[in-house]
Amino acid sequence: MKGILLAGGHGSRLHPLTLAVSKQLLPVNDKPMIYYPLSVLMLAGIREITIISTPHDLPQIRRLLGDGASLGLRLDYVEQPVPGGLAEAFILAADNIGDDPVALVLGDNVFHGHNFYEILQSAAHDVDGCVLFGYPVEDPERYGVGVTDAEGRLVSIEEKPARPSSNRAIVGLYFYDNDVIDIAKNLRPSPRGELEITDVNQHYLRRGKARLIDLGRGFAWLDAGTPSSLLAAGQYVSVLEQRQGVRIACVEEVALRMGFIDAEACERLGARLPASSYGAYVRSIAAELA
Ligand code: G1P
Repeated sequence: MKGILLAGGHGSRLHPLTLAVSKQLLPVNDKPMIYYPLSVLMLAGIREITIISTPHDLPQIRRLLGDGASLGLRLDYVEQPVPGGLAEAFILAADNIGDDPVALVLGDNVFHGHNFYEILQSAAHDVDGCVLFGYPVEDPERYGVGVTDAEGRLVSIEEKPARPSSNRAIVGLYFYDNDVIDIAKNLRPSPRGELEITDVNQHYLRRGKARLIDLGRGFAWLDAGTPSSLLAAGQYVSVLEQRQGVRIACVEEVALRMGFIDAEACERLGARLPASSYGAYVRSIAAELA
């Protein structure tokens, strides 16, 4: 399975924070936002990942993550010159996806929860159609919203409905079989001129091939696209990290635990950040798992 991390857009809801700096590089507590969605793909076992961003922001992201080899990954970079919608990602990354299934994660989505590794492994296994994730929110009108029938089966998805018929947001993490490339290529732009991910999902739904996994109330899904949600995400991570002495979405730790790199390589990554407590944590994990 291949991965796409979509880090496009102008971050206009965060202006002036994002006038010079990519939204996905802003801090969520102790690390750049992009570490969170990147670690999600890694936990799903995905090592070949295409990162898509604007021509302005892509060089900064590349400076941070490079070719991914030090994390045991292969990262490729593709420009999205104009915001053409989330579903355009499959067209832009088609060559890198090849004949494989693919997972798409949005660069401003933060996930954390018990059993997430198991959930991801099961979602990534033998994808036939698409796998979507639902999460109850207070403000569903800001998201894609999933509607289920009395038996809990997904019957429709509406993009940012004025009057949502449920509080179940469809989160920014999607698993698809390889048909997604053709489906995306045949989409028509929505009234706002974008290829909508919700139209892709509707397509799978009509074919009876959309599976929904509900992330329960003991789970955290945060998006960091506005000043208050960015702060909330940072506070959430800070509280847990301080309380438990762990780091959420520490990509070096994830690479080590997933077997993408060995303890020696992890130690070297930590040693590159000698003055930071993040670097000290990476080294401590390398020593613990050596
Ligand atoms: C996008 C999708 C929406 C989804 C959301 C998750 O919205 O269009 O369906 O629920 O991501 O973050 P956007 O954040 O681009 O407005």
